[in-house]
Amino acid sequence: MNFTHPKDQTIKDFGEQWLHYTDSHGFYGSMELFFDIIYPFLKPGDIKNCKVAEIGSGTGRIVNMLLEAGAKHVIAIEPSEAFEVLSFNIPEPKKVTCLKITGDQLPAYENLDYVFSIGVLHHIPDPKPVVEAAFKALRPGGHFVIWLYGKEGNSLYLGLISPMRILTKHLPHFMLYFLAEIIYWPLVLYIKVCHILPLPLKGYMLSVLEKMSPEKRRLIIYDQLNPSYAKYYTRQEAERLLIDGKFENVRIHHRHGYSWTVIGTKPI
Ligand SMILES: C[S@@+](CC[C@H](N)C(=O)[O-])C[C@H]1O[C@@H](n2cnc3c(N)ncnc32)[C@H](O)[C@@H]1O
Repeated sequence: MNFTHPKDQTIKDFGEQWLHYTDSHGFYGSMELFFDIIYPFLKPGDIKNCKVAEIGSGTGRIVNMLLEAGAKHVIAIEPSEAFEVLSFNIPEPKKVTCLKITGDQLPAYENLDYVFSIGVLHHIPDPKPVVEAAFKALRPGGHFVIWLYGKEGNSLYLGLISPMRILTKHLPHFMLYFLAEIIYWPLVLYIKVCHILPLPLKGYMLSVLEKMSPEKRRLIIYDQLNPSYAKYYTRQEAERLLIDGKFENVRIHHRHGYSWTVIGTKPI
């Protein structure tokens, strides 16, 4: 019997996804979106001259935002086949070290100012070893910044997507691609109606998704349907990840009412 662990299957799913969606142009890869993700805890200027790591870099979208924010050096961790795309997409290779490893294997540098993990931990069935590795890689006083799917604010969406995902996470690329194309049109309509009615996810639709190009909106639909493992975190679970990982001064923000930006500091 061919049984692949959900952790490995998810990495495989993303490898295939990113080989087809290699580009991060437009709002999707912009500093405006980066600011939106790290708000209200950081400003891009806080990263200037810092040594940072990103766990789960995909095609390098966040790595490039970190470089644009002035990071001195970025360690980019990506375990999937997307590693090739990541290495290709880095404009300043001298400032970036790409490692094809999983997050729990991040070396214990003990000197990084920040570790970021944006949209990744909710795809890892057991994220605890990754949080521990981030802790060891940071200098005392360094910060771990994560962004996760939220449970609160997503109940209607989860009612729709969860039954669909039972099937879609098993579909091959070409079927997911066409499904994303079909779902794209009702999504465009939904975004338009959000301008007039207070529909669920209105904040996200108008502040984020509407600013994406049609191609990136299709990628986001695909990204929701594809990975084998995706967990939607409650506020308490999201905070616990960092508190249990020995981080202090853990702060959490309900980003656009549907997701969590969380920051914690390694004690001095
Ligand atoms: C949704 S993508 C996010 C990519 C990037 N952070 C961004 O926002 O554009 C999640 C990424 O996490 C990676 N990933 C999955 N499991 C991982 C693990 N155990 N350790 C590190 N990265 C992992 C996937 O391969 C994928 O590229």
